[in-house]
Amino acid sequence: MTDDSRAYSPGLEGVLAGETALAMVDGANGRLLYRGYPIAELVERGTYAQVAELLWTGEWPVEAHLACAPVPDEVLAVLRALPPTTSPMDALRTAVSAWGAARRLGWPPTVNEARAITAFAPSALAAFARLRDGLEPIRPDPGLPLAAGFLSQLTGAPPDPAHARALDAYLIVGAEHGFNASTFAARVIVSTRSDLASAVAGAIGALKGPLHGGAPSEVVNQLHEMGTAEEAERWMRDALARGERLMGFGHRVYRAYDPRAAALRRVAESLAGSAEWLGMAVQVEEIALRLLAEHKPDRVIQTNVEFYAAAVLQGVGLPPDLFPATFALARHAGWTAHALEQAAANRLIRPDARYVGHGPRRLPV
Ligand code: ACO
Repeated sequence: MTDDSRAYSPGLEGVLAGETALAMVDGANGRLLYRGYPIAELVERGTYAQVAELLWTGEWPVEAHLACAPVPDEVLAVLRALPPTTSPMDALRTAVSAWGAARRLGWPPTVNEARAITAFAPSALAAFARLRDGLEPIRPDPGLPLAAGFLSQLTGAPPDPAHARALDAYLIVGAEHGFNASTFAARVIVSTRSDLASAVAGAIGALKGPLHGGAPSEVVNQLHEMGTAEEAERWMRDALARGERLMGFGHRVYRAYDPRAAALRRVAESLAGSAEWLGMAVQVEEIALRLLAEHKPDRVIQTNVEFYAAAVLQGVGLPPDLFPATFALARHAGWTAHALEQAAANRLIRPDARYVGHGPRRLPV
């Protein structure tokens, strides 16, 4: 064992591991800014295409169009080979990897590559969702924006404009969130001068874990288990008494109301189709916040983004098992923007570890 007294923080909690000009995540005051612009304003006045361009280039484009790109034949062949039971996150990660193999990207990553991978991913996820149901994939309509193009490739029908707008708002809200685990993974990969597809495939792998990207489908499961708003209080009291967590509440960084939850709640309210489900969610939220304040009086546990993300995704008609991969589609803009930022001032990310193993010794005879 070596004598190393340098500071060590498990999970790198509180450690400054880099600099970024992309998102300011102000947990104490419940603020989230992309390049200085508040998330609520971006959702109200912007589109995902504009927000992605803002993240990639630093400029707010007056107009921007980002359509879904077709899935190359090599990637479709790989998706066809997957068992229909493959989890959508695994299918998306595999598709991105196959896309990278076909494109043979280099280093440094470029804005055009960021656009291309962000435009490809929704088509790949929609293609997999159809293939597992025994349906043929549909080629994307280049005239439709990303969210509408994704919905139409899933269903084969023209998307409801309100659904497309709500999903676009969800993509904006999920686009970027500082040095979270998947973004950090992407930056580590790019810092070795590896390519953008490798970085995004690694980021999807990191996002897949239930501590990071898995909560919105669990919100839906819990609301289903509660049954009705009348039953909800008893269900939640019992769950808390068993030491379980209420999904969609609490956050490592935010101590105030998650600004993304507030923005998505307004979007969910505009979705007529989700009215009944949303009504129940609003009542459950009120009860949950009251019970959590009783349960942990010395800790602020507020609604997080996943609670109303579930309401929006359910409202636009996505099956719950596609929720985590749809979150990954949103985060493509942030991952790729971080890859560009990392490459522009690159230094190999290679921290030290404190050695806590055996001292020098000889192999047994
Ligand atoms: N329900 C019940 N109790 C909770 C909840 C919750 N949702 N959140 C925190 N607590 C309690 C914990 O049980 C713990 O109590 P203990 O000290 O008696 O063990 C205490 O509050 C502190 O919990 P930590 O996990 O240490 O707090 P942290 O701030 O690190 O947790 C986390 C953040 C993991 C998100 C947590 O609040 C949680 O598990 N929430 C439910 C799952 C969820 O909604 N995840 C999505 C997060 S948003 C996102 O990742 C994009």
